[in-house]
Amino acid sequence: MPAISTAPDFSASRARVAHALDALCDRRLPAIGAPVGDAMRYSITGEGKRLRAVLVMLTYEACGGSGDVSPLAAAVEVVHAYSLVHDDLPCMDDDDLRRGRPTVHKAFGVPVATAAGMAMVPLAAQAAWEATRSLGLDADTSSEIVRVLMRSSGAGGMIGGQLLDLEGEGQNLSYDQLERVHRCKTGALIEASVEIGARAARANDADLEALKRYGRCIGLAFQIADDVLDVTATSDELGKTAGKDLAFQKSTYPALLGIDGAIARAEALVQEGCAALADAGVLTPSLMATARYIVARRS
Ligand code: IPE
Ligand code: IPE
Ligand code: MG
Ligand code: MG
Ligand code: MG
Repeated sequence: MPAISTAPDFSASRARVAHALDALCDRRLPAIGAPVGDAMRYSITGEGKRLRAVLVMLTYEACGGSGDVSPLAAAVEVVHAYSLVHDDLPCMDDDDLRRGRPTVHKAFGVPVATAAGMAMVPLAAQAAWEATRSLGLDADTSSEIVRVLMRSSGAGGMIGGQLLDLEGEGQNLSYDQLERVHRCKTGALIEASVEIGARAARANDADLEALKRYGRCIGLAFQIADDVLDVTATSDELGKTAGKDLAFQKSTYPALLGIDGAIARAEALVQEGCAALADAGVLTPSLMATARYIVARRS
C-alpha cells in the first residue's frame, strides 16, 4: 500500500463538527459557569484532528445516512476531549502541552481540570441522546448509541485501558498485554465512533460487523502510530510533548517491535480493516483514505 503523506481533506467535516461543538458549549456551559465551564470550553474547542467525529460522519454517510449527524459526532469528541484532560493530569501523564497550548490543568489548575473532565462525561451522554432524537431515531436505537459511547469509555474500555497503561509504567509488558492496553485506552472509542455512525444510519447487521472490525483495526493502528510519533515527531509537530513515553517508561510498540516493526504492524491493521469493509461492500474512498491517514499522519 503506498504511503500518503498528506491528510485527506476533512476540512468540511471538521467545520461542521466545530460548529456543533460551539453550539453545544453555548447551550450547556453557561449553566455550569466559571471556572469549570470555561475549562470545559477550552478543552472542547481546542484544535484537535477531530478524527473520531470525522469517523462518525463518514461511516454514517457510507451507510446511507442523510441527516445532520454532526451533533452526534460532537458528543463523541467531548468524550475524547475529556480523556485528554485527565490523561494530562499530574497523576497520569503529567503533561504541560496539548493541542499546541497549555494543558487544562496548567491553564485552570488541577481541581478545576479534574472537575471539568468529569463534567464532560454526562455532558456527552446528554448531547448524544439529544442528537439521536433530533436525527429521528427511535428510543431503542438512541439508547443503544448512548450505551455504546458510555461503554467504550468506561472500565472495560478507555478508563480501564488508562489504568492498565499507568500500571504498566516501568514494566516490560508482553505483546499481548500491550495490545490489550492499546485496544482499551484508545481503540475502544475509535471503534465506538464507527459503530455509532453505522447505528445512526440503521446499518444492517453484516455491514455493522464489518465496520466494527474496521474500527477495531484502525483504533489499534491509531495508538501504534501515536507511539511511533512520540519518538519520531517533534513537540512542535505534535502540539504535545514528544518523547514522553520513554521518559515515563511506558510500554510501547516501538519499544517492543522497533519503529519499522511498529509501522508494519499498523499498516497490516489498516489493510485488514479495509479488507473487511471491501468484503462487505462498504469500503468508501473516504474510509480507506482515513485508515491510511491514521498511519501516515505526522501529528
Ligand atoms: C490523542 O488523540 C490521544 C490518543 C488517544 C492517542 P488525538 O491524536 O486524536 O488527539 P487530537 O484530538 O488530535 O488532539
Ligand atoms: C492516551 O494515550 C490515550 C487516551 C485515552 C487519552 P497517550 O497518553 O499516549 O496520548 P497522548 O500521547 O498523551 O496524546
Ligand atoms: Mg496516557
Ligand atoms: Mg499522554
Ligand atoms: Mg502518546
